[in-house]
Amino acid sequence: MYICPVCGKNLKPSKNVCRCRNGHCFDIARNGYINLLTTKGRNPKKAGDNPLMVKARSSFLDKGYYRPLAVKAAEIIKALLNGKEQPVIIDSGCGEGYYTSFYACELKNAEIYGIDLSKSAVSHCAARSRQNGLANVSFAVASAFELPFRALSTDLIVSAFAPVSNDEYTRVLKKGGFLVIISPAARHLYGLKSVLYDEPYENRPNAYGLRKFAKIQEEEITYSVTLSSNEDIRNLFAMTPYFYKTPEESGSRLEALEALETECSFLIEAYRKK
Ligand SMILES: C[S@@+](CC[C@H](N)C(=O)[O-])C[C@H]1O[C@@H](n2cnc3c(N)ncnc32)[C@H](O)[C@@H]1O
Ligand SMILES: [Zn+2]
Repeated sequence: MYICPVCGKNLKPSKNVCRCRNGHCFDIARNGYINLLTTKGRNPKKAGDNPLMVKARSSFLDKGYYRPLAVKAAEIIKALLNGKEQPVIIDSGCGEGYYTSFYACELKNAEIYGIDLSKSAVSHCAARSRQNGLANVSFAVASAFELPFRALSTDLIVSAFAPVSNDEYTRVLKKGGFLVIISPAARHLYGLKSVLYDEPYENRPNAYGLRKFAKIQEEEITYSVTLSSNEDIRNLFAMTPYFYKTPEESGSRLEALEALETECSFLIEAYRKK
């Protein structure tokens, strides 16, 4: 299914590498993922989320705080694919694989690919899916802006809180294929922001510049959670963009908290490729 990121020819697995017919060769890591990130213009060690962010997100998500979102997203994806026999799904910017693994469990007949720019995130994905014995999911280190998949090969792309590429999603999706984008709704984590900021603000909608897609569905899912330990609060903070833009003094307000109630509010938008 993967194509060579250098020449675009099909990659074929053999033992612990994948090779194209032009001799470009990529290692398959011991836990099963493949690194298809070309290094031109970037330092792969610094690409995407760092190991600390991956660990924070993974510890937080594994507690189930965002499970209602995973359930709803899987339900929407299933309905869009409408019984298709062996649909190909890409989770673009899959992070450490919490949702990817959830989709793989819920859509047993689907062939699922998770890609992310961060090697530590993808390594975690691969380990998680092995542990869960998931046979219908594969992971690669790659960019959403240079997807290692053939044109018109994919039935559905899902992107949660990750960069969106109009051009690559248009190239890779089949005609009539679906794009599902999950993003924070206006009052997502308002309780957390009320602790951090004297004047908390609501999130603004994202503009994706999706020229080749028509919106067909939009759902908001909102609920309240109580984080029951300081560790969970710190992990949530570390997986948000606020972690990097909040002054230290405001961030330290979280240190004394042992519990925090906050809204979780997500927007799930579905588009069809024109
Ligand atoms: C906020 S996290 C969301 C991860 C996951 N979808 C989730 O909801 O748990 C954003 C992810 O996008 C990845 N990312 C950033 N730029 C990317 C790109 N150009 N291509 C693919 N992934 C990218 C980061 O490494 C990170 O894992
Ligand atoms: Zn090649």
